[in-house]
Amino acid sequence: MEQSRLQSGPYPADHRQSSRSVAGGELAALQTAWRGVLEYWLECGIEFRSGDRLEFVTPPSRGRGNQSAVVEVVAQPAAPSPLPTRPPFFRPVEREPVVAAPVVTAAPLLDAGLRDASFPAPLPVAERPARLASLAAEVAGCTQCGLAKTRTHTVFGVGSPESSVVFVGEGPGAEEDLRGEPFVGAAGKLLDHMLRAIALDRSQVFIANVVKCRPPGNRNPQLPEVAACQGYLFQQLEIIRPRTIFCLGKFALLCLTGHDDTVGRARGKPFFWRGIPVIASYHPAYYLRTPGRKRAAWEDLLRLSQQLEQMQ
Ligand code: URA
Ligand code: SF4
Repeated sequence: MEQSRLQSGPYPADHRQSSRSVAGGELAALQTAWRGVLEYWLECGIEFRSGDRLEFVTPPSRGRGNQSAVVEVVAQPAAPSPLPTRPPFFRPVEREPVVAAPVVTAAPLLDAGLRDASFPAPLPVAERPARLASLAAEVAGCTQCGLAKTRTHTVFGVGSPESSVVFVGEGPGAEEDLRGEPFVGAAGKLLDHMLRAIALDRSQVFIANVVKCRPPGNRNPQLPEVAACQGYLFQQLEIIRPRTIFCLGKFALLCLTGHDDTVGRARGKPFFWRGIPVIASYHPAYYLRTPGRKRAAWEDLLRLSQQLEQMQ
């Protein structure tokens, strides 16, 4: 069978049609869901060859046992694969160049004492929604920094108060500011794909930002703004008490760990916020600008997935 190499980045428009099912019609919904995952994997640069058949199996559901769907990769008219044999399911991970260990410094304006404070006792799960709601009401009236003047809505965060993982972005963009919800623009769509790739969706995680009001013109938040707002994020984390925190970009990492260097140099290194492991990863907007780097997202999501599995 003809070999094809599916490139990372935007793949041929007709690729979507070229993944065809060989399973029965009743599995169409399952296939549609998994096709999204497959497309995301392809965007991450994971290679498949024509004829590769990927079988996705659901956990058993009541009275129906497992359901499985098979998706077959069909040849694209593309350059022959340079790989002489069937490639592994996942390409070998390309290591980033080895660099000297970063100097982990606390940003001068951010209060390391607050960041490193010990935890109060965990809140009973039943009390968490009300505590989050009253904190959200406090945030809605906040004028502690200049961003209050230009915001339309505060963007508190959404998701499950019992989530094992909290995703922390930077600050609301234009669309988030209008809707009062985090990650609903283009970067948010990509975040949804990323979650789906590890079998999660928004309702199972919690998504928040470092600053709750939009920095005008999508500029970076300034350190005094981060310092003014970080207490809200810390309270959210105290209430939810996740097992892992996933930093989407430099500002989340800076705010939670004091790491004041590039995300590239932080990825894969162990960080903690009050004893909770923190995963350093790029912001989804970075992948929109440089789609060829999406494999980094996949690697970090695997780290998250493995951590969550180990903690169960
Ligand atoms: N970027 C962020 O960091 N947060 C959002 O909510 C949206 C875009
Ligand atoms: Fe308050 Fe944070 Fe908004 Fe500043 S960004 S006004 S600190 S909620």
